[in-house]
Amino acid sequence: MKDLGTILNDFQSEIQDVHNEDDLNRIKGKYVGRKSVLNDFFQEMKTLSPDEKKDIGQKINELKSFIEKVLMDKTRVMEQEKKTKNRVDVTLPGKKQWSGSFHPIIMTMYHIVDIFQSLGFRVETGPEIETDYYNFEALNFPPDHPARDAQDSFFLGQGYLLRTHTSPAQVRIMEKTKPPFKVVIPGKCYRRDPMDASHSLMFHQIEGLVVANKISMGDLKGTIEIFAHRFFGADRRLRFRPSFFPFTEPSAEVDVSCGICGGKGCRSCGHSGWLEVMGAGLVHPNVFRSTGYNPQEVRGFAFGMGVERSTLLKFGVPDMRWFYENDMSFLEQFKTVR
Ligand code: PHE
Repeated sequence: MKDLGTILNDFQSEIQDVHNEDDLNRIKGKYVGRKSVLNDFFQEMKTLSPDEKKDIGQKINELKSFIEKVLMDKTRVMEQEKKTKNRVDVTLPGKKQWSGSFHPIIMTMYHIVDIFQSLGFRVETGPEIETDYYNFEALNFPPDHPARDAQDSFFLGQGYLLRTHTSPAQVRIMEKTKPPFKVVIPGKCYRRDPMDASHSLMFHQIEGLVVANKISMGDLKGTIEIFAHRFFGADRRLRFRPSFFPFTEPSAEVDVSCGICGGKGCRSCGHSGWLEVMGAGLVHPNVFRSTGYNPQEVRGFAFGMGVERSTLLKFGVPDMRWFYENDMSFLEQFKTVR
């Protein structure tokens, strides 16, 4: 049988490991219950002489009341801990509810579309899987025209491809709509470009098309100017540079003055003071012909802008790939901007 000193030592080390009520009850049963180790001692005592009984009985009782006191204290401490644990600290700041938001590209797309809607443009869409006819031929790209090289596509076989721009939707809309009309067509486009800071194999464009009987470059310039001032800021200047697209004539690249240096020239704008935002021009008579319109009777202007590009320019993001990496610490910064 163990001596009282060992029992005391065992108890003192076991009480350190008591962390919950179950532990506490188990240790109570072991040391002070009816079947406790101390009870075993009382059983043993029957065989001893009266003097020995008195002496050892007193020691057992002392040990028992010591153990009981420690257990009482422990119970009290645990009750106290439980109370503080369940208490609500009303001074603590609340837990923030996580909420989702639109992706910055989609947000910018809606913003741009909103501006054109306020100018009376209707919103249309077109398919991402296109035919060679709509993506190129009806837009006045002959089969061997070098302008196709700039828009290398993903060919799906059987005459289908992923559209390289939103312009094919122009043709689809003209086929089913009588002029006059004003539409914008937002959507995804695909090109076989290697990914870098300003290229992605999937990107978004917003196409604009206005057809009526009297439309000039002046209408195009006025419309784009209103858009650019609302979207980029009233202090931005615009520049129309002659350019080439098979489906517009004349054609222009539209530049907006750099928002960082105010047009003086800095690293962001390649020291030119200007940033390219879209391609535009007057609808080519051949496009009207392929949609069944009479080029003698109607005129139109069209433009196509990159949404990623516009988002980069508006918010000063240096690399387009950041929009696709799904890094929440980057994306969350756009939650509240407009
Ligand atoms: N579709 C052209 C492009 O992706 C842009 C454009 C649209 C140019 C409409 C003129 C008119 O490069």
